[in-house]
Order: sequence, then structure tokens, then C-alpha cells
Amino acid sequence: MSRRIPLVAGNWKMHMTSHEAREFASEFCSLLVQGDAPAAEIAVCPPFTALETVAQGFATSPVWIAAQDVHEQASGAHTGEISAAMIAAAGAEGAIIGHSERREAGETDARVAAKVQRALGSGLRAILCVGESLKQREAGETESWLATQVRVALADVTADQAEGLSIAYEPIWAIGTGKTATPEIAQEACAHVRSIAGEFVDANAVRVLYGGSVKPENAAELLAQPDIDGALVGGASLDPVSLMAIARAA
Ligand code: PGA
Repeated sequence: MSRRIPLVAGNWKMHMTSHEAREFASEFCSLLVQGDAPAAEIAVCPPFTALETVAQGFATSPVWIAAQDVHEQASGAHTGEISAAMIAAAGAEGAIIGHSERREAGETDARVAAKVQRALGSGLRAILCVGESLKQREAGETESWLATQVRVALADVTADQAEGLSIAYEPIWAIGTGKTATPEIAQEACAHVRSIAGEFVDANAVRVLYGGSVKPENAAELLAQPDIDGALVGGASLDPVSLMAIARAA
């Protein structure tokens, strides 16, 4: 049996000013002390401008903070970008890398791999996102596509670094669409992602999350699957009550 602790991470995307983020943190902290402590680890991924506020808001709680991206270089002339050191100095412990919304904006597998290296090499945790489009799924290309994304991203990850790694399987057709993958589809893809990751890291130790229209109503069924170790939650993570309900379902 594995000892993987589930992770529920809320990806706020381009939502929440620092003021709104502070209110979220305080509401979520009061929910945390009501009822049983969730068995899942919880992470919140605010926009860069709210990282520090959210890190302060959660300072005395077990919730950890991740950025939504990180630049692959340590520093330099990269206008508009944020480095791993800046993220850590803001009080965050990790970063989402390779979200499909960034890949759609031109991020390549090679860049994703460099970002994974930068994050893990800087002591940040990485939540690496992979996932296929509807067209790829219908063409029967899901497995080979996911295998390539995972292989390129993990090519240089060492066993030591792997401790900080989670992989989120997020089918693009299920993100923000309300169309959740069935538990069977999600399980099958997550098991595949785990087995490919096992070419590089300990397959039994790496956390594989599902993401795509996860809500309090479908979380328990998805998270009950043997290869689904948590969820990356977009829309439903903007409401403290639903994020808590998903965390308690894990
Ligand atoms: P969603 O987003 O839960 O709103 O579908 C998930 C994600 O993009 O990480």
C-alpha cells in the first residue's frame, strides 16, 4: 500500500485581488477549525499579486501556497516574469507548471521541463499539469500524448527532487466546461500518467491529481479512485466552502 497523502490544490487563475484573497484566507481558516481536520493536504494557488497576502493569511494553518507559474531562469531581463526565488520570498512553497491555459499561450514541453527543473532545483514543489484535447482523445492519441508530456517534463528529475513533485492530469475538454471526466476515464488516465512517471521517479510515491470541473458533488467519487491522489480545482476553489468540501471529500 502506498502512503500518498491526498492533495487538494485550488487554482484561482486570474481571480482575486489581494483584498479578496485576504478575506478568502480568513474565511477558510475559520472553516478549518470547525469540524474534523481534512485528511488531505490543501494548497491555494493565487495570482502573483496575492501570494504574499495569502501566505500571511495562512501562516498559522497547514495550508501551503503555490504560484501559478514560475520562470525557468533564476533571474535576468525577462519583463513581466517571476522567479522561483521571488515566489519563495513571498512565502509560497510551490508552483503550478505547464497548465494547459499556459501551453495554449505557447508554452512548449521543453520550457515546461526547464521550469520543473528550476522549481524543484530551487526547493519549490511543482504541480506539473498534463492533459489532452478533445480532438486528441477522439483520435485515440490520449496515451501517447500524455506519455510525451510526462517524459519530456520529467527527463531530468532526480529521485531526491521527486519528493516535491505532483502531477495533475487535466483533460483540456473538462477544464472550466462543467464536463468532468468520468471516474473511470480519470482513473485510467491517472494510472497511465503514474506508470510513465515511474520511468523516472518512484511511481508509488508520486502524487497524481485529477483536474477539470471538480466540484463538491463529484469530488468523493473521483478521489476514491486508486490512482487519483487529489484534485487541482479551478472554479470551485474560489469559494471557501466548496474548496473545504472537496478537501473533506478526499
Ligand atoms: P476547473 O479548472 O476546475 O475550473 O475546470 C481546473 C484547472 O484548470 O486547473
